[in-house]
Amino acid sequence: MQKIHAAITAVNGYVPEYVLTNKELETMVDTNDEWITSRTGIKERRILKGEGLATSDMAVPAVEGLLKKRGISAEEIELIIFCTTTPDMPFPATANILADKIGAKNAWGYDLQAACSGFVFGLATGASFIESGRYTKVLVVGGDKMSSIINYQDRATCIIFGDGCGCALLEPNTEGYGIIDSICKTDGSGRNFLNMKAGGSLRPASHETVDANEHYAYQEGQTVFKFAVTNMAEVAADIMERNQLQSEDVAWLVPHQANKRIIDATANRMGLSSDKVIINIERYGNTTNGTIPLCLWEWEDKFKKGDNIVLAAFGGGFTWGSVYLKWAY
Ligand code: UT7
Repeated sequence: MQKIHAAITAVNGYVPEYVLTNKELETMVDTNDEWITSRTGIKERRILKGEGLATSDMAVPAVEGLLKKRGISAEEIELIIFCTTTPDMPFPATANILADKIGAKNAWGYDLQAACSGFVFGLATGASFIESGRYTKVLVVGGDKMSSIINYQDRATCIIFGDGCGCALLEPNTEGYGIIDSICKTDGSGRNFLNMKAGGSLRPASHETVDANEHYAYQEGQTVFKFAVTNMAEVAADIMERNQLQSEDVAWLVPHQANKRIIDATANRMGLSSDKVIINIERYGNTTNGTIPLCLWEWEDKFKKGDNIVLAAFGGGFTWGSVYLKWAY
């Protein structure tokens, strides 16, 4: 019997309307457009404004658009893996909330927390369900309302992050297309350099934690940068090597969008020219779990069946990983 691969058969995305520009940030913190652009590549990011709106509210239009594109109903989805660092609530899982909102009555699901590597981990785990032969429609969603955990008085973080959500449908393919390989890595000793200190069982919410700004994302940028630059490039090079891919064999690199300099270092290590590297960081900033699916969504029209695509990410935890896939449509 032919091996079953998990193929992406549809992608979609959603970004909120509100555009937070570098110019507007200049009025909020001591920063400037020149610094942000040259150090990160970001010009603007989207912010989900409005009372009572959460991460799942970006996932709903993204997934509904995907279902329409693929011509299937929500009831056909069997499993939802919701990759997010900003779930609607600590529990229940945002996967459950999404399933309810879109009417995915036959699906079970869970949230996957791997910070910025979430979508790569989500594809890797989602693929296993398909490869086992037990599942035929697995929805992997990656999205974050980062603005809900950002301190807009902290210039070390507020210039970087934005809100957005993307999704991909995995279905079986026996013609050799789909996810061919994945590498997922974690190193918990990096937890002190990028985290949200309070709100978990270690430091439950209290007046003290709120006063100490511990419900916001905290990042030691330089340290994270060093690990990210090394590990994202390394893991992308590793997946190429173990699949005997030369740089000319790779059609596209889809990197996590944390910093243009980290993306450039990864592309250099892989020997790729800039026209093969997907970058939208200038418009959306770092949407954490949303970056990779939003790139897939925006570049979908340019992909050709059989294109070798390498995804790579690095995030808090530390977490990092890479997926190698052959585009299936
Ligand atoms: O997605 C998950 C993983 N996250 C990442 O991959 C992020 C990795 N880190 C980074 O991308 C970068 O470290 C940052 C973009 C966060 C910061 O860039 P950097 O080049 O590492 O800057 P830095 O922290 O070393 O600061 C350089 C200078 C400092 O001034 P002095 O000490 O040289 O006078 C900072 O005070 O820039 C100053 N600075 C700023 N200036 C204007 C720091 N933040 C800002 C700012 N605007 N927002």
